[in-house]
This record gives sequence, C-alpha cells and structure tokens, in this order.
Amino acid sequence: MIRFVTGNEGKVREAREYLDEPVEQVPYDYTEIQGELEEIALYGARETFAETDGDEPVLVDDTGLFVEALDGFPGAYSSFVEDTLGIERIPDLVADEGNRRAAFRTVMVYYDGETAETFEGNVRGRIVEPRGEGGFGYDPVFEHDGETFAEMDTAAKNAISHRGRALERFADWLAER
Ligand code: IMP
Repeated sequence: MIRFVTGNEGKVREAREYLDEPVEQVPYDYTEIQGELEEIALYGARETFAETDGDEPVLVDDTGLFVEALDGFPGAYSSFVEDTLGIERIPDLVADEGNRRAAFRTVMVYYDGETAETFEGNVRGRIVEPRGEGGFGYDPVFEHDGETFAEMDTAAKNAISHRGRALERFADWLAER
C-alpha cells in the first residue's frame, strides 16, 4: 500500500493508473515551505509522517511549471499562480515573448520515518491557448508533440509526462528493494 499525500485527485488518478500497488490517498494538508521542489516535498513528507496515524511510508509529489521566457516562473509558485491568476492568463504572459517553451518538473519523496528517497521527472512542451477537457491544473495550456495534456487520457499522459517519469523511477526502485 502506498500512502500518497495529496488533496489532488488528478495526481492520485495518475499514480493509481501507473502503479501496480494499491494507492491510498492521504489528504493531509502539509506546510508548503518556500524553496525548491525537493525541499518542499521533503519537508511535507517528514511533517506528514510525524503528524498522521500509521507508520507506513508516505509519498509526496511536488510539481511546478517552468516557463522559459519567464525565467522559470511560476516554478515552485505554480499552485499560488493557478489560484490567483488562473491558467488562462499564462498564454497571455508568453504571447509577446516569441518563446513558448516550458517544462513540468515533479519531485517525489518517499519517506519511511528514517530515510528519504527522491524521484524526479521532467517533460518539455509549449504554452498554448487552452484545449481539451481532461487532466487538471495547467494541462489545457501545456502542449507536447501537438497535443495538450488535457487532450490525452491518463495512460497517454503518464507515458510521457513529468509525473509518469517520476512514477516509473519510483516503481523501478520499489521493485528492486
Ligand atoms: P503541487 O505540486 O500540488 O504544489 O502543484 C503545483 C501546481 O501545479 C498546482 O497549481 C497544480 O494544479 C499544478 N500541477 C501539478 N501537477 C500538474 C500536472 O500534471 N498537470 C498540470 N498541472 C499540474
């Protein structure tokens, strides 16, 4: 059983689709410190392990969208920017820049109370006007190989996405233990 710490149903759907092991969602709202994705995920994993019932390991996923023309913004602030500006404003921000390149990056931390393992995944793409009904978050404005993530089903997104890559590394590590 994997205890996946997130309030985000989309992340849980993708983890369940990818992993063979059952995934339990732990909707604990850990403190999001200011810092790099690794620091945020590690702090969240430690706090959740200490504050929630159960001594099973926890898995935390921290993800950011990094827009090249904006020097990597919103990055670790992606959640705040989605809640304040909204994703529809992101294409406007790059419209005059002549550079639509962006990347998603996920850092997953698996913490068992003693040691922490980190798994990372990245994907490159471009910022476009919103298209598609699937996915979540910034998926409608992130295009990879001609399709936005919101136009892909969960399996297709997992096959190429930041989270899919991190899950692949995590699953390989689990299998080898
Ligand atoms: P967090 O990792 O939960 O802090 O998410 C940061 C921000 O990125 C939130 O606004 C999420 O909605 C968004 N986000 C996280 N993962 C994805 C994804 O796979 N696709 C699109 N947006 C995402």
